[in-house]
Amino acid sequence: MKFTFPKWYDLHAHFRQDNILTATIQSHLNMACAGILAMPNTKPPVTRVTGENTNQYWTIESYKAELERASNGQFLDIIVPLYLTKDTNAEMIKEGAKSGLLKSCKYSPPHGTTNSEFGAPIKTYMENGVFQAMSDAGVILNIHGEEHGLSGEDYFGENSNAEDYFYKNYVPEIVKQFPNLKIVCEHITTKTAADFVQNAGDNIAATITPQHLLYTVADLLQGLKYHLYCLPLVKFEKDRQALLNAATSGHAKFFAGTDSAPHTTKATECGCAAGCFTGDIAPQLYAESFDLDESNKEAFENFLCLNGPKFYGLSLSDETFTLEKMPQEFPNLKVGNQEIIPLTNGMGRPSLAWSLSKHD
Ligand code: NCD
Ligand code: ZN
Repeated sequence: MKFTFPKWYDLHAHFRQDNILTATIQSHLNMACAGILAMPNTKPPVTRVTGENTNQYWTIESYKAELERASNGQFLDIIVPLYLTKDTNAEMIKEGAKSGLLKSCKYSPPHGTTNSEFGAPIKTYMENGVFQAMSDAGVILNIHGEEHGLSGEDYFGENSNAEDYFYKNYVPEIVKQFPNLKIVCEHITTKTAADFVQNAGDNIAATITPQHLLYTVADLLQGLKYHLYCLPLVKFEKDRQALLNAATSGHAKFFAGTDSAPHTTKATECGCAAGCFTGDIAPQLYAESFDLDESNKEAFENFLCLNGPKFYGLSLSDETFTLEKMPQEFPNLKVGNQEIIPLTNGMGRPSLAWSLSKHD
């Protein structure tokens, strides 16, 4: 079984910086990615739009130029969102949008995930004019929808969790107050979030990762497969089914965003770094999750290749790649004398069900 698709867009990925950036960009090019949205949680974070980088902050202008260099100009488009902090203001949004560099802003729950200590609570931007300016200028909001600071059953229970809380308590309020703001609910993991997006207007979309379509918390816990540890956490089977229904529906509001996040050290003495690395292997994993065949190949193409760039107003690729149901193996990614372990290798399943070949 073999299917050919236009090159696709990864509308949520982490590439970091220095030699990790070069290696991870290459792994995205290897998997026939036409364009990327490169998250701004670098060190220091991307919290300004134009100008030179400093020790305190990076700028979209500089980080984007670095990503372009690392990819030898091979991406059709690169979006770098602005990392929202307490210092972001309406004027920056207005000016940024005018410059053409600012297409979206990322909300990360303060201290909620990797390199996210710079964020402010979501209410800050609802009240200080930032969301209004974004709405006015057509700048998209990328939301990591988890309430920070919860614990125990509220953080991760069978009927309640940090994402559930966020989609019940904040997102409806944002949509009500800013009805024209375009929002991408990033890496949704719950039935609550999937239902919310499905029932919202066309200005509300969502990315879904391969790991959340394929796995549940049971897969994480059985044998403590910490390479599957990412935030938001994988959830329960009812949630996975809701995500799968959303992705395979072919509906324009759901699209690929791998959240691929390279970590050279996952498990440490006192915890585990959050983030799954799916460079090189994401379309193959999406195909596996869809159980790709003749009957759903159109929905698959919508989800992987078309819906995302349409939502962001990006051009579609006229180059193609092929997925074939044939086992394929991947080595770990070497970066200097360190290694980044792709999710499936880390889970002890080195062979993928689908293989990918590019035509360029
Ligand atoms: C991401 C990372 O490592 O940068 N980690 C993750 O678990 N997804 C950050 C993020 O998207 O939350
Ligand atoms: Zn992410």
